[in-house]
Amino acid sequence: MRGTLPWVSALGALLVGCGGTELIDDTFSTSEWQLVQTLSPLPAIPADPTNAVADDPDAAALGQMLFFDTRAAGALTVGDDGANGAPGQVGDTGKVGCVTCHTVESGWLDDTRSKPGNVSIGAGYGKRNAPPIVNAVFYGWFGWAGQDDTQWHQACGTTESAVSHASSRLAIAHLLYDHYKAPYEAVFGAIDARFDPLSASAADFPATGKPGDAAFDAMPEADQTIVNRMFANYGKALAAYDRLMVSRNAPFDRYVAGDTTAISTAAKRGLKLFIGEAGCVACHKTPLFSDSDFHDIGLGQTGDHIPTEDLGRYTAVMKLQTDPMSSAGAYSDSPSSSKVPALTLDDSLKGKFRTKHLRQIAETGPYMHTGEFATLADVVEFYDRGGDDTGFAGTKDPRIVPLGLTDGDKTDLIAFLGTLTGDPLDPAVLVDTHAP
Ligand code: HEC
Ligand code: HEC
Repeated sequence: MRGTLPWVSALGALLVGCGGTELIDDTFSTSEWQLVQTLSPLPAIPADPTNAVADDPDAAALGQMLFFDTRAAGALTVGDDGANGAPGQVGDTGKVGCVTCHTVESGWLDDTRSKPGNVSIGAGYGKRNAPPIVNAVFYGWFGWAGQDDTQWHQACGTTESAVSHASSRLAIAHLLYDHYKAPYEAVFGAIDARFDPLSASAADFPATGKPGDAAFDAMPEADQTIVNRMFANYGKALAAYDRLMVSRNAPFDRYVAGDTTAISTAAKRGLKLFIGEAGCVACHKTPLFSDSDFHDIGLGQTGDHIPTEDLGRYTAVMKLQTDPMSSAGAYSDSPSSSKVPALTLDDSLKGKFRTKHLRQIAETGPYMHTGEFATLADVVEFYDRGGDDTGFAGTKDPRIVPLGLTDGDKTDLIAFLGTLTGDPLDPAVLVDTHAP
């Protein structure tokens, strides 16, 4: 296939070694082009052995229904003030679903609704900006601090978060029985008959409750396990749906595949900076433009509703190590494949966040876990000045230093970042299918 590429310039028409590395235009040296080729195309979706239904279409269809379902959400603590985008009034229940913060309108399941947009409003104000779900499946850890080792852990966590759905695993178990019994049972097997409201033992499963709540803690352990299992399955169905959120074939990918006109000359110069002088590729590597690793880029905790301290990866690891819902626990379909037991907690993790992927980046602002930057120009200014001096935990990565970029360099970098938006998602996966 590579042999059929158009050889556009005499300088660029160069075949390197037997690996088939060809320069397709003269913007890049051979070694630069080899580096560029490591950034495309996106690979096949990684397997998730911890979720036995990860690639089951029926599970994904159930996940899609649940994604749009708001009925199990608890009471709002922040109400709509006419401007903040809150989904109802204080005390309202049944207002928050995944789609509230990962909107279909965004095209990429990003939050286009919370105002200000730097943090997401569910039942209350969260402490971080909602990232888009698109292409998240390629990460090794989920959430800004990698606080979720799997996408099903992520779905369960947000559902019980007081500032997100403010729901509970018992409320979810009832939602599944009351509205999704057939599709749930087709994927995961029969639901305990005591969930039937007409059952003589219906009181065994209170309407709401999670660990730490009296209603849940008072249940016999065997019944808690039944509810935990249903809750994990809820997360696994949502995770199967998340895996459909993939966008490929960005202009950048077409360029690397040989279409020399797929990106502009300015974007090519920006790419050269990205992999060279500007040093971005040190962390934004692989076709995801993320090493899925954690770094302290010296980003101050600035912005509305942003807490003055966020320890990032440190807190994430601490919580994962004791979480019964992690991939190492009883609800995982492959505890032996879990990366959680290998985690070690130490102070060097303070202030580190996961390298955010850069696919669709031009369309998914505001940027950073603080949502501090409205535009990519703001982000480039941040890196150009070598990050912030104060306001963040831990020690800034030594690679975040003043870059001395010219105005032209900055424009070129932004032009390059604009070439990373791939094909739109399949409209069928963005349809609200929640059950009546
Ligand atoms: C209240 C707004 C809100 C709701 C509701 C919500 N999310 Fe999120 N979502 C966020 C925020 C904020 C983050 C980043 C969290 C963090 O890092 O602290 C996030 C992160 C994620 C991620 C990780 C993306 C990445 O970059 O790793 C996925 C996947 C996701 N959400 C899916 C879901 C699903 C599925 C649901 C429903 C069960 C859901 N979200 C409900 C706001 C929300
Ligand atoms: C030392 C590793 C590292 C380097 C070098 C680096 N980044 Fe980042 N980048 C990160 C991390 C980590 C985040 C997430 C930070 C956060 O929100 O706390 C991030 C976030 C971003 C974001 C915001 C993404 C979003 O969706 O909000 C953009 C855009 C970005 N980087 C572009 C660049 C560019 C351009 C360069 C080169 C000038 C660069 N980065 C250099 C690690 C790095």
